[in-house]
Amino acid sequence: MTLTPEHPLIDGRTTNATLVRAYRGDRSERTPVWFMRQAGRSLPEYRELRAGGDMLDACLTPDMASEITLQPVRRHGVDAAIFFSDIVVPVLLAGVDVRIVAGRGPVLDTPVRSAADVLALRPLDPAALDPVRQAVAQTVEQLGSTPLIGFAGAPFTLAAYLVEGGPSKDQIRARSLMRSDPQTWANLLNWCADVTGQFLRAQIESGASAAQLFDSWVGSLSRDDYRRRVAPHSKRALNHLRGLDVPMVHFGLGTDRILPDIAALGVDAVGIDWRLPLNDAAAILGDQFTLQGNIDPALLSAPWPALRAHIDDVLERGRAARAHVVNLGHGVPPETDPDVLTRIVRYVHGELADGD
Ligand code: CP3
Repeated sequence: MTLTPEHPLIDGRTTNATLVRAYRGDRSERTPVWFMRQAGRSLPEYRELRAGGDMLDACLTPDMASEITLQPVRRHGVDAAIFFSDIVVPVLLAGVDVRIVAGRGPVLDTPVRSAADVLALRPLDPAALDPVRQAVAQTVEQLGSTPLIGFAGAPFTLAAYLVEGGPSKDQIRARSLMRSDPQTWANLLNWCADVTGQFLRAQIESGASAAQLFDSWVGSLSRDDYRRRVAPHSKRALNHLRGLDVPMVHFGLGTDRILPDIAALGVDAVGIDWRLPLNDAAAILGDQFTLQGNIDPALLSAPWPALRAHIDDVLERGRAARAHVVNLGHGVPPETDPDVLTRIVRYVHGELADGD
């Protein structure tokens, strides 16, 4: 199946958006900018709307998910919206008992650790994704020519939460399962690839104009483990987008050693964390990839002249790539002053006289 004639990439609404063009390899006069975790606790309007409510309930209530997605677009004038949801949403919809604990992240009271646990995982019923489809459709309706980015967690990062039962430092239990029971590992990653792939496809079919795969914890893997035991499953997740001509982005933390393997996944753009200068990433990846990143989130609380000099450096190094989408090197910290984010957008767009 291909995109419908009403899809924003097909009817022309987002075809020439700076973000879509940059992902496809064109430089526009204005460098596009958006922020990972731009929707969320840094915004008072988000905190007010969410007050007391459960995070995953909010993700599955279309009016709420849509409104939260639109908040940072209205406030900051970013060049893209990212769908308000979470990487564990498709896992929940497939029947796994997962919740999100504020300040911690996804938690499972009963982690998935044995061969029997993995065999007990059920496939995701496509109908369960209806709230996601509805939220995306009504969001895209409001966005007009601003593209919506759909996203999903990569199989390794999802599996790390499932096996560990929550956030963990080096994903020791997950990596140990990978080596001690390779068949169970492969089954688990295939299951993750399919639920996450279906979640991503649902967003694209419903109107999202780009797809980002988050493999946040991939930095704990050796190159060999990534190549042999993880990357094929990331590829399987992305294969769910087969036939849909939509730009694809990969993001992970600590990916220096595995960039060539990420390049082999077949994505259009690669997100880089704040530790690797973009020109170094470009030297490894060559001119077939757009780079996304990589303002250090730590500098969001620095005085403006220091932050501005850092942004100038990021923009300059980004010139080494075929095209550049400005972003942070990881998500917006919750304590960030939202006015700083607006200022970055205006600065990158060239709307501030000498940055003031
Ligand atoms: O604005 C956006 O970026 C869109 C929404 C989004 C969320 N999670 C909302 C969210 C996206 C893209 C994600 C992805 C996600 N979720 C990742 C990959 C990106 C990354 O940050 O590395 C990961 C690892 C998760 C798992 C997860 N969910 C974590 C680590 C947390 C944070 C826990 C906390 O409270 O600090 C969550 C919860 C979560 N997901 C929040 C938001 C806005 C905070 C929940 C709240 O407001 O109470």
